[in-house]
Amino acid sequence: MMIEKSGSIRLKDIPIPSGATPEQRELAQGMVRVNHLYRSALKVAVTQMEILDEEFASLYDHSPIHHIEYRIKTLESISDKLRRRGYDVTIDNIYAYIQDVAGIRVICNYLDDIYYLRSLLTRSESFKVLREVDYIQQPKESGYRSLHLIIDVPIVISEGTLHLPVEIQLRTIAMDMWASLEHELRYKSDRNFSDSDAARLRLCSEAISEIDREMQDIYQGKEPSYHE
Ligand code: GTP
Ligand code: MG
Repeated sequence: MMIEKSGSIRLKDIPIPSGATPEQRELAQGMVRVNHLYRSALKVAVTQMEILDEEFASLYDHSPIHHIEYRIKTLESISDKLRRRGYDVTIDNIYAYIQDVAGIRVICNYLDDIYYLRSLLTRSESFKVLREVDYIQQPKESGYRSLHLIIDVPIVISEGTLHLPVEIQLRTIAMDMWASLEHELRYKSDRNFSDSDAARLRLCSEAISEIDREMQDIYQGKEPSYHE
């Protein structure tokens, strides 16, 4: 199953004020190109993940991937991120400083599936790993767990081969459940998010990590490792 979270944009979708300067118009046109190119990189990376999933399923009768979500960062959130980091909003700065314009979330069934996919990606000659952060081995302060990879994806366009970064977040169903609800609680709900809420969420994250290990053991037929 795949869930796409954004559509393609055209020049008419970008609000250009009537008194826009030539630079602003140029930026808007550049954004359409950015969107198109990163969408292409996204497609290549998603397709590659599906190929690996299908191959594994046909060989071992098990799909490592539960589902994939992907999105192109909106123009607004790209601009916010550049400004937050102290850069001007220019096309060159997007290419230079934003590595998650194209983002894929690969939700895996079991913990080992994450590292299986990682090992294939890091060994691949086509996709160089530009950056890796393992928030499973070292969860974030919030309790967030996932494996983050930035991979370099080659796309063939009329001018030749272009290389673009794509961010891949690999996580289990349980980690995804935690991340979705934590995000909702922390940023979206109207209620105040207290220190005690944060502490309880960290405990939930630990409980979930136990569950992931236990589910993995059940799947592999290992003896229970109860902690009494
Ligand atoms: P940004 O990309 O600007 O967020 O900075 P970064 O690259 O230093 O961040 P990082 O790679 O740690 O996290 C990027 C993405 O991971 C975020 O956009 C979220 O999708 C996810 N993420 C990171 N930390 C948390 C967290 O504490 N809770 C949740 N729910 N998601 C997180
Ligand atoms: Mg990031």
